[in-house]
Amino acid sequence: MTATASRAADILSRPTSINGLTVPNRIAMAPMTRAHSPGGIPGANVASYYARRAAAGVGLIVTEGTTVGHDSAGQSDDIPRFHGEEQLAGWAKVAEEVHAAGGTIVPQLWHIGMVREQGQPPYADAPAVGPSGLRPGADEPTGKAMTQRDLDDVIGAFTEAAAAAERIGFDGVELHGAHGYLIDQFLWAGTNRRTDAYGGDPVARARFAQEIVAAVRETVSPSFPVIFRYSQWKMGAYDARLAETPEELEAILAPLAAAGVDAFHASTRRYWVPEFDGSDLNLAGWSKKLTGKPVITVGSVGLDGEFIKGFQGEGASVKGFDDLLDRLESEEVDLIAVGRALLQDPEWAAKVLAGRFDELQPFDAAALATLS
Ligand SMILES: Cc1cc2nc3c(=O)[nH]c(=O)nc-3n(C[C@H](O)[C@H](O)[C@H](O)COP(=O)(O)O)c2cc1C
Repeated sequence: MTATASRAADILSRPTSINGLTVPNRIAMAPMTRAHSPGGIPGANVASYYARRAAAGVGLIVTEGTTVGHDSAGQSDDIPRFHGEEQLAGWAKVAEEVHAAGGTIVPQLWHIGMVREQGQPPYADAPAVGPSGLRPGADEPTGKAMTQRDLDDVIGAFTEAAAAAERIGFDGVELHGAHGYLIDQFLWAGTNRRTDAYGGDPVARARFAQEIVAAVRETVSPSFPVIFRYSQWKMGAYDARLAETPEELEAILAPLAAAGVDAFHASTRRYWVPEFDGSDLNLAGWSKKLTGKPVITVGSVGLDGEFIKGFQGEGASVKGFDDLLDRLESEEVDLIAVGRALLQDPEWAAKVLAGRFDELQPFDAAALATLS
């Protein structure tokens, strides 16, 4: 093994913990929608897709976004749902197989809010709902501004899904507060124009997320991990920002941590980009510095030929593997989530942990077509 390979094996193999959960190593699978679950039911193919990656050494699997039990939550009949008897039975099997393979797993609980278009399945009559009825990037409302009753219903749907996750054997939950979907539509001023207690300054915009976290926290066991994923960027608005300064970010994250978030999953497209001027910390690093909670970083790990050359010790035009290991070793971040590289190659973690860097392949979008 090269020096980089043995350093990688050493640092990535260290267990870590999120609340009551011990994660066997530092490699997480990033949540990736695959839409291979007809009727919203994850089948045997979905279970083996995740179990294969756990068997190859992924310590923590965050599932694809799976919708909570609110009629407006989704937009496809093939996206797995996290409510309903058959759907939950399918998920129980997924968790069981991942555990048998030695991994840990949390479902990513999701409500798409205003990204929905009326008429879409699985509940065609359900309206698109959001803080102000605005699609991300739009100026004119095309959906329903949520009433207090709607807010309560959605909070209830997240709470029920989290309770189900614990009941059917998952190791925790991740709340999808990123990328311009419902929770993020509240966090972001671009989609939240409310003048009541849920809109206005960053603290008010974080209130809906905070109430979901608090309700989930109250329902699940105290040691059951609640992870919160968030992002600055939005689908269709890559330059959008929730927070321009560390102070603004703290105003959003501190109430969430106080409400019971155990770890933050800070979604960035390139993990090595500093978040604010004057510091090398990335968004995950800032999340940890501001809240003291464990953090997951993500974004272009192992993705292209240049990065892979970095793994192989040939130097890279982007910051390579040693930079990532430095961030783990200095405890700037606790886990790395890997998306497309793991979608491409179920054996990715095994190859990296064993220093088989010459076998890594760049991501090819053709991998999106199958669930293997
Ligand atoms: C096909 C695909 C589906 C995705 N679906 C989700 C999702 O359901 N929830 C989510 O939070 N992020 C989703 N993402 C974003 C990934 O979790 C991840 O943050 C992103 O791909 C960057 O990581 P990577 O560079 O390692 O791929 C998706 C990404 C891809 C490529």
